[in-house]
This record gives sequence, structure tokens and C-alpha cells, in this order.
Amino acid sequence: MCGIVGYVGPKEAVPILLAGLERLEYRGYDSAGLAVNSRGRLTIKKTVGRLEALRKLLAEEPLAGQTGIGHTRWATHGRPSDRNAHPHRDCGQRISVVHNGIIENYLELREELQQSGHVFLSETDTEVLPHLIEENYRGDLFAAVRSVFPRLRGAFALAAIAAEEPGKLVVARMTSPLIVGLGRGENFIASDIPALLEHTREVYILEDGEMAEVTAERVRVARVDGREVEKSVFHVKWDVAAAEKGGYEHFMLKEIHEQPRALTETLVGRVARETGRVTLPELGLTGKEIAAFRKIAIIACGTAYHAGLVGKYVLERLLRLPVEVDLASEFRYRDPLIGPETLAVVISQSGETIDTLAGLRLAREKGARILAITNVIGSSVAREADLLLPTVAGPEIAVASTKAYTTQLLNLYLLGLYFAQERGTIGEEERREMVAGLLDLPRRAEATLALEETVRALAEEYHEKEDIFFIGRGLDYAVALEGALKLKEISYIHAEAYAAGELKHGTLALVVKGVPVVALATQPAVYEKMLSNIKEVKAREATVIAVVSADDHETEKTVDRIIRLPEVHPFLTPMISVIPLQLFAYYAAKARGCDIDKPRNLAKSVTVE
Ligand code: G6P
Repeated sequence: MCGIVGYVGPKEAVPILLAGLERLEYRGYDSAGLAVNSRGRLTIKKTVGRLEALRKLLAEEPLAGQTGIGHTRWATHGRPSDRNAHPHRDCGQRISVVHNGIIENYLELREELQQSGHVFLSETDTEVLPHLIEENYRGDLFAAVRSVFPRLRGAFALAAIAAEEPGKLVVARMTSPLIVGLGRGENFIASDIPALLEHTREVYILEDGEMAEVTAERVRVARVDGREVEKSVFHVKWDVAAAEKGGYEHFMLKEIHEQPRALTETLVGRVARETGRVTLPELGLTGKEIAAFRKIAIIACGTAYHAGLVGKYVLERLLRLPVEVDLASEFRYRDPLIGPETLAVVISQSGETIDTLAGLRLAREKGARILAITNVIGSSVAREADLLLPTVAGPEIAVASTKAYTTQLLNLYLLGLYFAQERGTIGEEERREMVAGLLDLPRRAEATLALEETVRALAEEYHEKEDIFFIGRGLDYAVALEGALKLKEISYIHAEAYAAGELKHGTLALVVKGVPVVALATQPAVYEKMLSNIKEVKAREATVIAVVSADDHETEKTVDRIIRLPEVHPFLTPMISVIPLQLFAYYAAKARGCDIDKPRNLAKSVTVE
């Protein structure tokens, strides 16, 4: 996720662009930059670091001009650095581009462009854009972007300016968000509404496959095939605070709703529908290296640890390799048995959790190969790892992790399928079925979000309870742990998760009349056993809320409330079944009047031991 802004009109562009970027910092903040057309010359100023660093640079080296584009970055391709910061430019310095999203086929485009003499200055996927536009530019930026568009695969939004066309912005959208703000004698573009609210409340929301040519007086919108589009104006009613949260009351709810998009963006470029294959070229591992691993050790804290617990089931099943999962704070003090044939998978949203980082360093000392799954590719964990498999969730602001968890899971499935494919531990048919299931996940996540009202009603019904139990078996048990953590951390209700088969060894003593038990029963292999456990707690007069798969019409005969998931491959269910649990925690916390985005005693990133 990144933020883009643009201005065209009679005013100086720089202060407007900077103010817009400030409102978009929630979309990324590892580097920032601007390009301005100063009397027919494009000048770019960009720097690694937060927006403050760019402000400082501009104070020392001011930029004048009335047409410009700006960008605040959240790195995905290429680490945060001055060179990788946007805007990027062509060889002739006549075109500047900012971009949000991923150009999936950038490597082949880059190679082709290099062969025809283009020189690249960064490691980003974005940089192919100005060079491709340069190749097609005949004095009409709109026409050049239009001819480039069909060559691009992936999810992206872009904004471009050309030296020879002062007073013009050209934008295009495929999946990543983009809006045009309508002013009087001036116009704007941005990734999102907060960047524009100071100037206008009237916007066009571009759809996938739409482009716009924006001048101070006119906005022309067309489909990439050239058909003109008559847009209707969207009137924004939100204030700035609401707009930053996309109109949601809390960042957590916004981030829960961002999961379909985060899953889509994490999948981009990694799975091919036609061949049913997974490719993780960023790892740069050979088949021989993949075959040499004898053991996997997962190291993480909090929600990332819970993702690791799902990872154990997934990787063991797909690879038939032993997988250990450790809380980083335990791992680092227990003299773990790992060595050069171990792949250590370090999972961390922030990439800065001190225990996780110490676990990584210990694994390295013992000779393990380190693979990081992190949401911040400039983070310490990302930098110190040998291999990096980023989640593409965008910045997560709420303390309670949601979209980072689902994308961490997705990366673990991708890793498992990729290694299984290379090690030959999965048959072609099964692999194709799972890849199809993965590609379908964003749609299923969207369908799961449609359960919001049902879950809200349940949370409102049970929010006054002081103890809630979560039970499940197998993958469902791992998800139950995350469901209980979500509820504890934001609603302060005492919540515990148990492997359902373990209840009778202690916890059943706490299950008395009216105690809510959230039972996950989505796994066919243990379904019968799970049903017996549900009956066990029902016999103690617990109130059971069951989370079941689409085709289950049996469980509802025994339980009090039912949450039926949309149809999804049972093995892939964790990425979907966690969503109602996140919503349950959210609405329970809301009903209890808790400070949802900043729960008491907790921090987003724990950099002390
Ligand atoms: C904190 C956060 C959790 C997070 C954990 C690990 O406790 O509140 O949401 O899961 O740290 O953080 P990491 O950034 O390493 O994933």
C-alpha cells in the first residue's frame, strides 16, 4: 500500500502535495517524494524516511511549479531507500510517475526495456512505467499511458506528468484505489479521500480499467479501450478523522474490511491460475536448496505466533517435514535444537519485536537459514533475514492485528505449496485445487464479511459475559487461539481457547450453565469428534455458538447459535474462519465501550523485552 496525490491549477503545487501526503501517511511512510513541472522541466525531490525528511529536503532545495505528483511509500519491491522512493522517471527526464500497487510482470518488461537501451536506477517494479510511457510518448501523455496499460499485469494505480505538457495529470487504475477531486479552476488526484478534504468534497471514484486526463479546467475519464465515461460526482460527507478510517469508526474495523484486498495483493504475482503453480521468485532458492531442508522452526510473538501455529499444520501436511513453533521469548532462552539444515521462519508484522529479532539472531548463530514473513520490508527482521516473503497488507494501525494475520497465513500456505511443488510432496491435481482455492479467497473473505450483522448481534448479546471459551481441533484449534486473543486484548473479557479434546482434562470444570463456548467445527477429518465435544459442553448447559462450514446442517441441531461460513476448501478455512471471530471481538469491545484501536496496557510494536 502506498499513497499518491497530484495537483494541477494556479497555485504552488508543493504545499498542497505535502499536505495531501500527510493525510495519506497511514498508507505508508518509509519514504516520500514529489515531482513538479517547473516551466516545462520536471524536477523530482525524494528521500527515504517519513514525510518530515522530505519537508526538510524541500526547505533546503525548494521547488516551484503548479502541476505535480507526490507519493508516500510502503515498500514491496525494493527496500526503502532514496533511489527506490517515488516518483520515478524515464531516461529523457520527460516523464514522471508515482504508483501504488504491484506490476506483476515487471521483470519481463524491465528486461525488454533494458534490451532496447533503457537505464534503470532503482529496484522497483514502478520504474518500468516511465520507461514504457517514454517508448510510447508522441507528445500526448494520455495516449501514451493508454497504450501502455494493456501491457501491465497486477493491481495498481498510477499518476504521471510530462515535461512537455504542463498543466496536465494522467491517472489510471487497475484494482488499487484512485480518486479525482474536483475543484474550481484546479483539480486533484489521490489514493484516498482524506488527502483532498481540505480542498473539495466532490470527487470521481475511478473504477478498474478507467483512466483520467486532468487539467485545471477539465477532467476527462475514459476506459482503457478509449470509450469516454460519464462519471457521477460522489459527495463526501465524512470529516477528516472519519475519512482516514475510510468512514469506519475504528482502524480495526477498517482493517478487518481490508482483508479481501490485502489477500488479493499478497497473491499478486505468486500464483498462476492456468498452470496451478506457485512461484516465489523473491526467495531466489534453487530446487536443490529447497530439497535440503530437514526441519522448519517458526519463531514469533502474539498474533504472528498464532499464524505460526496454523503454519505448523499446513507445512507438516504439505511437506512431511517436522515443524516446531516457538514463542520467540521462549525460543531464545531454551537452547533450541536447530542447525544448518533448518529453515527458521520468523513471522512479525512490524519486523521490530525485540524477542522475535533476538530469536532470529539466535537461529542465525546456530546456522539456520532465515526466512522472514513481515509486513514492513525495511524493518530489522526483514533486513537481517536471508530470505524475505513480505505480506502485502499495507500499514496496520490498530493494535489488534487482523489483516496482518490473514496475510501471514496466506504466505505460509504459499510457502508450503511452493516447497511441496519443488520437493514433489504434492500431486498436481491437489496442488491445482488448492491454488484455485487460494485465488478464490478474496471473494470468500468478502462473502464472510457479509456475516457482519449476524456477528454483531451475537457480540451484543454476549458482551456482558466475563468468561468465554473457544474450542476447536486441528486447524480450528489454532484459529480458536487467535479468536480468544482478539477478544481478550480489546474487550477485556476473559477468553481461553482449548483443543476440544483436552477439555475433559481440566477446563470442563469451568463450563457451567450459560457460559458461552465458541466452537469451531469446520474440519471434516475431526468433525465427528468435534460434535461430541460440543455435546459434552452442551450437557453442562453451556451456550454454544458454532462456526461451521457451508454444507454443515448437522451441528445446528445441537447448538444455540450458528455462524455459517461461505464455501471454502477446508484446508484453507483459517483465513476465512478467523473473520467472524475478529468481528465478534470488535463488536463485543464496542458494546463494552472499550478503546478499541488502543487497548489498555498494549502496544502495536513491542521493542523492549
Ligand atoms: C504486539 C501486538 C500484537 C502482535 C505482537 C507481535 O503484542 O500488539 O498485535 O501480534 O506484538 O508483533 P509483530 O509485529 O512481531 O507481529
